[in-house]
Amino acid sequence: MADMPFENNREIPLEIPRAVELLCAGELVAFPTETVYGLAADASNSAAVAKIFAAKGRPADHPLIVHLADSGALDGWARDVPQAARRLAAAFWPGPLTLILKRQPHVLDAVTGGQDTVGLRVPNHPLALALLCAFGQARGAPAGLAAPSANRYGRISPTSAAHVRADLGDQVPLVLDGGPCAVGIESTILDLSGNMPRILRPGAITAADIDRVLGDGFLARGMFAEELAVPRVAGSDQAHYAPRTPLRLAMGDQLAGNVGAALTAGQRVAVLARMPAPVAAPGLIWHVAASAAGIYAHDLYAWLRTLDALAADLILVESPPMTDEWLAVADRLRRSSCGSGQGDET
Ligand code: TXA
Ligand code: MG
Repeated sequence: MADMPFENNREIPLEIPRAVELLCAGELVAFPTETVYGLAADASNSAAVAKIFAAKGRPADHPLIVHLADSGALDGWARDVPQAARRLAAAFWPGPLTLILKRQPHVLDAVTGGQDTVGLRVPNHPLALALLCAFGQARGAPAGLAAPSANRYGRISPTSAAHVRADLGDQVPLVLDGGPCAVGIESTILDLSGNMPRILRPGAITAADIDRVLGDGFLARGMFAEELAVPRVAGSDQAHYAPRTPLRLAMGDQLAGNVGAALTAGQRVAVLARMPAPVAAPGLIWHVAASAAGIYAHDLYAWLRTLDALAADLILVESPPMTDEWLAVADRLRRSSCGSGQGDET
């Protein structure tokens, strides 16, 4: 968390009382987490939660993650919490891991999408934690902030306060600015509500990381929920994280050929690749991305926004390596390509 600008800026923490006031009054506040910016509402206030869906244009049956100040709040929101959840919370919270657990009866249907489960996480960002603590003190237990990523539904997630303002500025009374997000892609979602743990969304915490803590061969079982399709996970829609410009993936050895074909067809092409441009050509914009998965993930959504803003005819992205550490990036890029090229919200 070396690059958090507010640490030397006394004005930003002073916004926390204002944020708490707004949240207690049923308003929305955008806030930074280590993954992406979230759009928060009091998770116990159904009118406030409804405002999240309205602001994002998100279908009402897509459940929200409840953000907690610390793992001591787990039992206030989840019941029958398995030991595996406690071990993972101890190992990774605060951090980019969301646990799906059986919900306490008071948890709103609007938050869970009507399911008997709830998604919980403690975010690892000092401003988020300060907000959650102050909100908890003002409201009393159980206090939690329901927060999806602070973007229009289906679009690229925000990793800076400027991204949030660009997407939702007129619909959010306050955007807390905590600088760029350290991780840059959304949390790993692990479902512990059934008989077997299942990863519903890959993220910076990998199956191997989880396996190391649980030590029970979870990774070896290799259970991914994509084929299973339930419970409903908004981020698992095929079209997601999508730029308005059509985006296609190309293997490294086919990239030059794809670029050549598009240029010959008179298209303007923006490329995001880990390799340098083989040639310079009019109509070609080539951005070299990091070759380490963590740095690539940190930069990914900002790059997609930058490339989209060029209004090229095509964004071509070099396919990431097919290894575990690139799984989350590969997942986001595949979904970006699915929903891309549509002017209206998906
Ligand atoms: O990193 C993150 O998780 C960010 C930050 C803001 O915390 N949040 C985020 O929220 O990505 P959102 O709403 O964009 O994605 C949350 C995902 C959705 O796909 C939702 O369907 C899933 O979590 N989810 C929430 N509750 C669930 C539940 N009870 N069962 C299954 N999936 C659930
Ligand atoms: Mg999202």
